Amino acid sequence: MTAGKRFIYIKTPEQIEKIRESGRLASRTLDYAESVLKPGITTKTLDDLIHDFIVSHNAVPATLGYRGFPGSSCLSVNNEVVHGIPGKRVIKEGDIVKVDVTTILDGYYGDNCRTFMVGEVPELAKKLVAATREALELAIKTVKNGSRIGDIGYAIQSHVRPLGFSVVEQFVGHGVGLEFHEEPSVPHYGEPGKGIMLKTGMVITIEPMINSGVKDVVIMKDKWTALTKDGGLSAQFEHTMAVTDQGADVLTLS
Ligand code: MF3
Ligand code: CO
Ligand code: CO
Repeated sequence: MTAGKRFIYIKTPEQIEKIRESGRLASRTLDYAESVLKPGITTKTLDDLIHDFIVSHNAVPATLGYRGFPGSSCLSVNNEVVHGIPGKRVIKEGDIVKVDVTTILDGYYGDNCRTFMVGEVPELAKKLVAATREALELAIKTVKNGSRIGDIGYAIQSHVRPLGFSVVEQFVGHGVGLEFHEEPSVPHYGEPGKGIMLKTGMVITIEPMINSGVKDVVIMKDKWTALTKDGGLSAQFEHTMAVTDQGADVLTLS
């Protein structure tokens, strides 16, 4: 998403612990979503379950009503890249489903996404999902006080492009924690050593969207759902993390 603010918050250790609590709930919400994601469920039913899980843990789903978005999660299936609106669509065996959940707990935001494979999925889908998960892990390894935003994108593109996959450029990671989308923007492509320097106390997301075909996306008439332009598959994983002197402290863990 695009962030509006022109400054980057440095969070206190106390704030980071609050973001970690929210991030833990966001991660547990994805664990829960995985447990109920079965062929035959509609995306609306899944979103309702996610809503009730978050609310029953004294938190608020950040996406609900955000710029008019109508869901408590973004549910994007197969060729849908991001921002899928929960609705009548029925999940089938062989689908890959991106579930993106952001919680607000005691005012603090935790943002994460995983791609779930429903039953037996095509070989290409397995490869794409694995490569995307690995790309996020490699990107996280670059993060520490003094590293650069460009190191993140470079790690992602270097992993997925040789496999024949492409990096979506239209949507980026972002600062997060006190607000949903803060500075800086975190592109998932880039040049090593370039871009803003990360500093201890910054909290960011990395959320690569990786396509099996071309990187281009088109937005549906619903004004939200992004689709791959060529109809290919898309996968995404996202974590929220704090920058430390030693490395990334991932805050969206169960
Ligand atoms: N959670 C998404 C992100 O990772 C943002 C969703 S915004 C919405 O940045 F409006 F589509 F819900
Ligand atoms: Co995000
Ligand atoms: Co998200």
